[in-house]
Amino acid sequence: MLLPLLLGSSLMSEAYSRTVPQQALVVDQRNLNALNTVPPPSVSNLTSIFFPPGVTEDEALARPFHVYDDAFYDIIGPNPTLTVIASEGVNPLFHEAVVWYPPTDEVFFVQNAGAKAAGTGLNKSNQILKISLSQAAAVSTERNASGRVDVVPITANPAVINSNGATNYRGQVVFAGEGQGNNTPPALYVMNPVEPYNTTVLLNNYFGRQFNSLNDVAINPRNGDVYFTDTLYGYLQHFRPPPAFPNQVYRLNPSTGAVTAVADGFELPNGITFSPDGSYAYVADTGAQYAFYGYNFTAPASIYRYTVESDGTFSNRKLFSYVSPGIPDGIHCDTNGNVYSGVGDGVHVWNPSGILLGKIFVGMTTANFNFAGKGRMVICAETELYYATLAAEGSVVASEMPPM
Ligand SMILES: *[C@@H]1O[C@H](CO)[C@@H](O)[C@H](O)[C@H]1NC(C)=O
Ligand SMILES: *[C@@H]1O[C@H](CO)[C@@H](O)[C@H](O)[C@H]1NC(C)=O
Ligand SMILES: *[C@@H]1O[C@H](CO)[C@@H](O)[C@H](O)[C@H]1NC(C)=O
Ligand SMILES: *[C@@H]1O[C@H](CO)[C@@H](O)[C@H](O)[C@H]1NC(C)=O
Ligand SMILES: *[C@@H]1O[C@H](CO)[C@@H](O)[C@H](O)[C@H]1NC(C)=O
Repeated sequence: MLLPLLLGSSLMSEAYSRTVPQQALVVDQRNLNALNTVPPPSVSNLTSIFFPPGVTEDEALARPFHVYDDAFYDIIGPNPTLTVIASEGVNPLFHEAVVWYPPTDEVFFVQNAGAKAAGTGLNKSNQILKISLSQAAAVSTERNASGRVDVVPITANPAVINSNGATNYRGQVVFAGEGQGNNTPPALYVMNPVEPYNTTVLLNNYFGRQFNSLNDVAINPRNGDVYFTDTLYGYLQHFRPPPAFPNQVYRLNPSTGAVTAVADGFELPNGITFSPDGSYAYVADTGAQYAFYGYNFTAPASIYRYTVESDGTFSNRKLFSYVSPGIPDGIHCDTNGNVYSGVGDGVHVWNPSGILLGKIFVGMTTANFNFAGKGRMVICAETELYYATLAAEGSVVASEMPPM
């Protein structure tokens, strides 16, 4: 296609010629500003997927790269693709902790811990799984290749209990585990990403006290320290006791063992990541989603940005983005500092000033996702697993593997 697919012909005259990728849909945001009808919150709210006027759900899914700003073209490149590579029906097998391990070109991820449909949490820990990217790449020209990519369960030794977030760490993978009941504390576990998948507990307490429910973990590329979020989902999903700490962000210096709290004031801190140079931290607050207790629409569904000072402390908290729809869960940056988060309808992308550039629209809640190097992304949408090709490159592996 040589002409832009603008929504609304009155703006065509202002358009300039550009080749719109086959799987891209251009959204002119001026056409969203004054809608004919705007339903009340009982109809249109944080849980509702919004379609731009004139765009049907089928069209939104058929061209899943939604361009909200011209800068998105550089992110998706001339021929982005999106492929379903596995489907599970009801079991939320594709949830979080998406991590690429370059030496084997595999991507790890985990099942939802605590979801009723998974039966995980108190009775049973969730499962770690992996896929091979060469298998995903082989089907990337198709839209639904479910069943043609092997989803392989991993048995970690000892087990990682109720894993949620994860990231590359010194050539291995570090998981944030949410804990289980009274006697298995939340912990950071380091896992060897090849057989026998042996694990070592890096941290499981704060001066002898159990954390609430660890959620996500990121390594600051400037100082190599391990930053992680502690929140309430284990309690809100009935597999952890009532909390005994405020919900905070902590920092572990693996060399000295020092653990410090670096940020508080959250409802439910969740995903965490750093800008490519480590100078900013982004922390998602999913306070609007109380798991088994439903939603609170006036609580945060927001990403906050902090300055990371040269001593590794956080300052200058500011609201970076309030997302819609859904809540911002996993969060990652590309090498240019653009910020990506899994939300209620797919993966949204903002520039460093918090301007929405575009979406990878899957039409369902996307808890987490990650780059697998340059031009490849794996997206976990609970019961569906997606593989995307695009132009952008993830900053994580480049920056989060400091030398031992
Ligand atoms: C939010 O909107 C959905 C429809 O999208 C509706 O089913 C639900 O009841 C609404 N929630 C509340 C609390 O009004
Ligand atoms: C846990 O196991 C008990 C006893 O078997 C059962 O009653 C309960 O429903 C299970 N809970 C979940 C969340 O699966
Ligand atoms: C992909 O195909 C599988 C198997 O036919 C189906 O169960 C699943 O719903 C499809 N997924 C999507 C997102 O269309
Ligand atoms: C796994 O075992 C190897 C061999 O004993 C050891 O070098 C490595 O540190 C272990 N890794 C973890 C994460 O425990
Ligand atoms: C909803 O969230 C707001 C903002 O955090 C809070 O003030 C309010 O008490 C919450 N409402 C309920 C019912 O929990």
